[in-house]
Amino acid sequence: MGIINCIFLLILCARANYFLLSLAEDCQLLTKIPKVKCLRNSRREGLIRSRVRGADSATAEILTFLDSHCEVNSEWLQPMLQRVREDYTRVVSPIIDVISLDNFAYLAASADLRGGFDWSLHFKWEQIPIEQKMSRTDPTQSIRTPVIAGGIFVINKSWFNHLGKYDTQMDIWGGENFELSFRVWMCGGSLEIVPCSRVGHVFRKRHPYDFPEGNALTYIK
Ligand SMILES: *[C@@H]1O[C@H](CO)[C@@H](O)[C@H](O)[C@H]1NC(C)=O
Repeated sequence: MGIINCIFLLILCARANYFLLSLAEDCQLLTKIPKVKCLRNSRREGLIRSRVRGADSATAEILTFLDSHCEVNSEWLQPMLQRVREDYTRVVSPIIDVISLDNFAYLAASADLRGGFDWSLHFKWEQIPIEQKMSRTDPTQSIRTPVIAGGIFVINKSWFNHLGKYDTQMDIWGGENFELSFRVWMCGGSLEIVPCSRVGHVFRKRHPYDFPEGNALTYIK
């Protein structure tokens, strides 16, 4: 447990009814868990401003971002921390396994994928190029990736600040992973997937909540 300084739980208040029901009680219960600090937005702020708030509150030198709908495996964190300790300009993510939306079954994802995107800036997984695959002599070697998926990653806090954190004008999610990835490359850093680290993630078929300005407009922004 010594490697974790503090866990911030961010309560985003994405649903109006949720906000009315629970008020401050959820934080009181959650902070009974060791090392947990709870930050609750008083109004809906969306993922990006909430994450920046969490990052600003953290005192540790290395930040780990995790979606709430994730489940980590044992010793998932150390391999990523090591890569960032060796070089603070590395931004690393685990292999993201799939937790079934319908029955929570755990399905291992392929270890031959990296992040990519299409012309409409939708994130998609792609096969790592054959040359890169052939040159891999050790399956534990990290995989260089053009972009990270965005939900789960480890970054040095001062590097995150140096990059300008996130653009807090973004309202929901879907573009922040590209924005951060491009900044990393433009500032001389690198992005990678660490195969020794695996985290399960519930992939949703659609957004579970509405966007005030409409889905398309918010997404484009
Ligand atoms: C984080 O990066 C800074 C440089 O920006 C470096 O001085 C520091 O040692 C790094 N921290 C860790 C834990 O690697």
